[in-house]
Amino acid sequence: VVTLRFVLTGLGNIGRTFLEVLLARTQVLRARHGLELRAVGVADASGAALDPDGLDVAAVVALKQQRRGVASLPGARAGMTAAELLAACEADLLLEATPNHDDGEPGLSLVRAALRRRMSAVLASKGPLAVAFAELAALSDLSPETGPDAPALRFSAAVGGALPSVNLGRRDLAGERIDRVEAVLNATTQTVLGLRAQGLSARAALAEAQRVGIAEPDPALDLSGRDAACKLVILANAALGRPTRLADVAVVGIDGVTDEELRAAAAAGGRVSLLAVAQALPGAWPVDYRMSVAPTTLGPDHPLARLGPGEMGVVYHGDLCGRTTATNLAEGPVGSVSAMLRDVIEVARRR
Ligand SMILES: NC(=O)c1ccc[n+]([C@@H]2O[C@H](COP(=O)([O-])OP(=O)(O)OC[C@H]3O[C@@H](n4cnc5c(N)ncnc54)[C@H](OP(=O)(O)O)[C@@H]3O)[C@@H](O)[C@H]2O)c1
Repeated sequence: VVTLRFVLTGLGNIGRTFLEVLLARTQVLRARHGLELRAVGVADASGAALDPDGLDVAAVVALKQQRRGVASLPGARAGMTAAELLAACEADLLLEATPNHDDGEPGLSLVRAALRRRMSAVLASKGPLAVAFAELAALSDLSPETGPDAPALRFSAAVGGALPSVNLGRRDLAGERIDRVEAVLNATTQTVLGLRAQGLSARAALAEAQRVGIAEPDPALDLSGRDAACKLVILANAALGRPTRLADVAVVGIDGVTDEELRAAAAAGGRVSLLAVAQALPGAWPVDYRMSVAPTTLGPDHPLARLGPGEMGVVYHGDLCGRTTATNLAEGPVGSVSAMLRDVIEVARRR
């Protein structure tokens, strides 16, 4: 049995749900994967708790279910930052699930520090990768320059939750020349546009998406297309090998979509979705891409035209494989936790 000692930063929907799934899957992970996951440090906004012999995960989960800070655990350190926790822990793996600001922090500093210490990192958060993909990849096993012992950097959950968007392109289509990628990667806009096509006003559609827990209280990042653009940046870097920053993506949000466009698309048997696209430009290998995020009419034959509310999808067009599509409909944060778990198992297998 391989024991992976991990530090988890962020104990909200994602971090707490990860620990819940871990408790439920302990036996399966051991029996099927020969893997024991030991939580040696956890941090939220209130402080941190650490124990080299393993924290009581059930106690952490119970505390967070009561919406209390981890600082109130017996022996915890109130006010200890996630960075201080990371520096104080001997661990194999960082699990990063804090909310990130435009500068990628606090996750960026945490992931950078972990990789420099040769700890692997599994991210649910997009910020560090959208801001500094090249720098982080260069410290990890994603770089062809680093040796076989380099720490792993994985981020399945950051690009469409359970949807295997990154792995499909990076691993399963590794030998392809990818000519085009199309992806629906934002649940809020997918839901809002779907409800508007059924006749709801933009305001009512957003309120409904918030009521069912798909849209955030502040939906600006989603409606503006910026969230989808960050995901496309990560996908382009990781799966297309194209060094990409946010400024490389032309972004249009969904505010300008008219009822007429939605009606016309539905009448033709399709729909309007916020589509992230990487289109190969004519020219020699290595392929360069034009990248965009914009509301797009999908005809009835488009592989992503039948996605339901909250459903995500990605289509790769390769020169050898033809058209390869993956879609995923998951409820709540468990889908993203599934993606983190697959990454953790992959990290464990590398050891
Ligand atoms: N929710 C999803 O379905 C989903 C899917 C894929 C990816 N993600 C990404 O995953 C990350 C977490 O999302 P979430 O939905 O779990 O967010 P959330 O519910 O708001 O939870 C955020 C957690 O981070 C903690 N935190 C905030 N600032 C911190 C800091 N400076 N140091 C340490 N901890 C800090 C919070 O502490 P308190 O508990 O004390 O407030 C909370 O536990 C985000 O980056 C998000 O974009 C989310």
